[in-house]
Amino acid sequence: MQMNQYFNRRLQQVKPSAILAFSEFANQIPNVVKFTLGEPDFNTPEHVKDAAIASIQANRSHYTPSNGTPELKQAAANFLANKYDQHYNPEEIIVTAGATEGIYTAVMSTLNPGDKVIIPTPTFPLYIADSMLAGGEPVLVNTSQNNFKLSPSMLQEALDQAGDKVRLVILNYPSNPTGVTYTQAELDALAAVLRDRPIFVLCDEIYSELNYDGPHASLVHSLRDQVILVTGVSKSHAMTGWRIGLLCAPQPITDELGKIHQFTITSAATVTQDAAQEALENGPDDALPMRQQYQERRDFIIEQMKKVGFSCARPSGAFYIFAKIPQDLNQDDDQFAHDLATNGQVAAVPGSYFGPGGAGYLRLSYATSMSEIKRGMKLLQQYVQKQRQN
Ligand SMILES: Cc1ncc(COP(=O)(O)O)c(C=O)c1O
Repeated sequence: MQMNQYFNRRLQQVKPSAILAFSEFANQIPNVVKFTLGEPDFNTPEHVKDAAIASIQANRSHYTPSNGTPELKQAAANFLANKYDQHYNPEEIIVTAGATEGIYTAVMSTLNPGDKVIIPTPTFPLYIADSMLAGGEPVLVNTSQNNFKLSPSMLQEALDQAGDKVRLVILNYPSNPTGVTYTQAELDALAAVLRDRPIFVLCDEIYSELNYDGPHASLVHSLRDQVILVTGVSKSHAMTGWRIGLLCAPQPITDELGKIHQFTITSAATVTQDAAQEALENGPDDALPMRQQYQERRDFIIEQMKKVGFSCARPSGAFYIFAKIPQDLNQDDDQFAHDLATNGQVAAVPGSYFGPGGAGYLRLSYATSMSEIKRGMKLLQQYVQKQRQN
């Protein structure tokens, strides 16, 4: 029997990740320089690895409480308070399987079929897919004319148009794919628009340790009652494969989120929870040397790309550059990126994969070594010069 038509109909709206498909295409090209990676190229700190080994040796092989070990939740509460002045008690924290599960849990918990979700674009595509899987309707707000930031007037306009169906707004700062982040004043202004409306705000702050221009600003400071905070150790401690995230919200909200979490994964892995506890307790500043290197790479890439006519919004966080393809070159970013990879041996993700406002751009991740970056920039410059000669 042909079963294709019998799946959950919402799956028909969701396509497999175009970013992943592009990365796989680029991986087939010999000697290609990959600016496609969305994860740190650094190793997990030694003291964290040692904690994981000790946890295995101590036979920490059983389930933990669903929301996480009390020790990790306490370490997370201390870390958030000391680093960012964000105050959650351990009962308000759920340990998730990466930030990804936290996003899924938050979206599934807050949306009913037909509810609308405001998502500023260009965006991390996962938010759109999760919203659709929950039966929600993404309302995409193109921010390219405002330096890739959602302004209070853009938010107000989206709310006016979408009416009282809006239940969720999703913000991500520092941003994947643009590297742009908000100031506290900008977030406070967004909070003023959202305050006292029946709208949750999912704040994805997974890149909070990678802010280059100042302390990390957060909507938690201005709208705590409505905010669901997603964060974790994936980017701060180079622990993407360990799959530990944190979901934080006032207790009445976490109580509900905990149901989806419990029935989806029971609990995060015990050994990696122990490792994350070590990371947050004894390595709160582990990201600093990485941040220093990311910043040097960012500055180098911007300077080199400028020389051949690319421009980009100043990325003040994360490890991405969102670069505008020069006007005299092919403005179809999908074609441009495929040709650049095939004939120029440089892989950068087409900007249009990140939604409205991304067309004509490329996303470059600088989570790769300086020697590869230097090689990549030389190849990019040669490719562009060749295009201009043709
Ligand atoms: C904005 C953003 N949120 C969440 C994630 C996923 O994080 P995790 O690996 O902890 O699931 C990523 C990974 O690239 C990301 O860029």
